[in-house]
Amino acid sequence: MTDFTERVLQARSRFEAMCAKPVSLDITRGKPSAQQLDLSLDLLTVLGPDDFKDGRGHDCRNYGVPDGLPEVRALFGELLDLPTDGVVLGDNSSLSLMADALSAAVLHGVPGGSGPWRDSNAYLLCPVPGYDRHFGLTDHLGVGMTNIDIGIGGLDIESVERLAASDERIKGIWLVPKYQNPVGYTLTLEEVRALAAMKTAAPDFRILWDNAYVVHHIDEVLDPVANVLQACEEAGNPDRVWVFGSTSKVTFAGAGVSAFGGSPANVAWFRKHRGVRTIGPDKINQLRHLRFFGDADGVRSHMKRHASLLRPQFEVVQRVLETHLGGGDFAHWTQPRGGYFVSLDTRPGRARRVFDAAARAGVALTPVGATFPRGNDPEDRNIRIAPTMPPLRELEQAIEILATAILCECSD
Ligand SMILES: Cc1ncc(COP(=O)(O)O)c(C=O)c1O
Repeated sequence: MTDFTERVLQARSRFEAMCAKPVSLDITRGKPSAQQLDLSLDLLTVLGPDDFKDGRGHDCRNYGVPDGLPEVRALFGELLDLPTDGVVLGDNSSLSLMADALSAAVLHGVPGGSGPWRDSNAYLLCPVPGYDRHFGLTDHLGVGMTNIDIGIGGLDIESVERLAASDERIKGIWLVPKYQNPVGYTLTLEEVRALAAMKTAAPDFRILWDNAYVVHHIDEVLDPVANVLQACEEAGNPDRVWVFGSTSKVTFAGAGVSAFGGSPANVAWFRKHRGVRTIGPDKINQLRHLRFFGDADGVRSHMKRHASLLRPQFEVVQRVLETHLGGGDFAHWTQPRGGYFVSLDTRPGRARRVFDAAARAGVALTPVGATFPRGNDPEDRNIRIAPTMPPLRELEQAIEILATAILCECSD
């Protein structure tokens, strides 16, 4: 009997026992754990009763300063590679800034364009597997979606270039440039330059650069990522990129600060549309973040504390998957150096079966297809693992069950 046959037989009997005594474990949630949130508890007390003015004397309790506090814009600018006046701050959610920008594009058009995107049957390129909420938002606004592969080997840049050059309905591309959700891939310098310089049939093509994980390393060092605004400027396409970011997974996911950034034309355009729906963002929260961090180095050292909490979580996922599945071709998975997820591909056509089997043993996995537009994984193979939230022991147990389910369902 081969080693693999033996492994599968043992997995089958283990899995029967697991299903006879189901657990109740959840590895679906890409959220910070309570210990991670505790790292930022001082945010709640950092402002004393008389501390409500920034360095320029703005009274943060009042309306005004719609772009956000200059010192906080500078801090975000340093982290996101943008000049201070190329940053506009928002409230807690960068996703809502993406919704603002995309809605304005659909209803009114963007600088350099010929009109509202809704009049031109607009499409966005969607690297898959990807972030479900990008796809949900795009669909919600009536914008079409075209899949682009960003599998374990990286972004299919040739297809991006070919489609963008040949079809003027293609108005942009979603990108999470660093530690992509869920693959963990970081774009190379060459890829960023190619995206900045490529020929696009649509004159108003935009890169929706969601740098959600810009400082979120789990390894000792951060992956470097190229300065996209500079690359676009150098390529003669200064208005090609919208940059987004937030402190959602730096401080409090529900009470952070977000940012939009780009060229002067894009910032003026965004400011104009945003000004219709708000008189200004929460500047008390911005001030709190400024006091808590001091500067961008304060953010960087804070993220090292996150990394120390996250490293064991990601290591246990790798160790258990390797122990059970290593050396076989039952599944392939990513080994990210940052971000919030591990992306696992089963053999084609098996992910749903694995999902159902894991559910029988009491493990909730992210629904299969969630990482694809309209929930449709055409190959039925991708499973997103979110290691950050569960206690370590529970995570280990859940991955044991997942790996055993894979051995049972992907071995015939
Ligand atoms: C790629 C990506 N962008 C944005 C977000 C949400 O960001 P925010 O909380 O700032 O809206 C997430 C959250 O999981 C994410 O993974």
